Amino acid sequence: MTHRGFRAGDIDTSKPHPARIYDYLLGGKNNYELDREAGDQLVDAAPEVRVGVQANRAFLRRAVRYVVDSGIRQILDIGTGLPTSPNVHETAHEVSPDVRVAYVDNDPIVNTYANALLSDSGATGVALGDLREPAAVLDDPEVRRLIDFDQPVGLLLIAVLHFLTDAEDPAGVVATLRDALPAGSFLVLSHATGDFADRSEAQAVYTRATATLNLRPHSEVERFFDGFELVEPGLVQVPFWRPDATPPQGSEEIGFYGGVARKTR
Ligand SMILES: C[S@@+](CC[C@H](N)C(=O)[O-])C[C@H]1O[C@@H](n2cnc3c(N)ncnc32)[C@H](O)[C@@H]1O
Repeated sequence: MTHRGFRAGDIDTSKPHPARIYDYLLGGKNNYELDREAGDQLVDAAPEVRVGVQANRAFLRRAVRYVVDSGIRQILDIGTGLPTSPNVHETAHEVSPDVRVAYVDNDPIVNTYANALLSDSGATGVALGDLREPAAVLDDPEVRRLIDFDQPVGLLLIAVLHFLTDAEDPAGVVATLRDALPAGSFLVLSHATGDFADRSEAQAVYTRATATLNLRPHSEVERFFDGFELVEPGLVQVPFWRPDATPPQGSEEIGFYGGVARKTR
């Protein structure tokens, strides 16, 4: 396997995949029957999930604009998902056309679609990599081609850390990535939570998928920002992070926290 390739047998269509469930919920076409069934079960269990994923995408766009406005010219997006327009590089380029973006995901199907759609210039690249192996992600040749770790980086961990169990040490993973970033870098993170409703049924949908859903409370999500300084308004439900329009109806129910933080030292 190379960073741009995979074996056809690596695409598992026997189980729902987080990337394809999410694509279905966003109204995308890159999903299979099992993913759509899981998506429908999620909506039954957590009716606000469709507005929640849209709000998460809108948070992503606002946060990317914020970090690029703050001077970031290179972005490492881990858990990038199936291409969804506007993608991170399109959003970043609206602010500054010279931003480089390295996309990383551990799902071979994401890698394939992303390679086809996102590697449109030397400034954007895609790597197959697993967040649970942060050192390998940092050493990936495509990541290294695009990201100079001596210059500030925008690290995106958007709606991905909740696929790591506590045993997989998500805090340790974030710390390894943080320690590779110079001062002036940013962490943009969003994470699913059960703080606003009992979401155990939604969680159960993922027990049949290729990754489990690990909902975490505010205090635990906030700890992922150790070593960074959260910018205003801190860690909040995604629709309330620097909204640029009236938050959608039902925003108080949305089970995604989002925050942006700066590494000052
Ligand atoms: C819910 S999607 C989020 C996509 C995008 N970041 C967004 O917020 O719109 C989660 C993505 O994380 C990926 N993912 C899950 N576990 C991962 C891991 N251990 N390493 C890398 N990617 C992972 C999935 O394949 C999926 O594409």
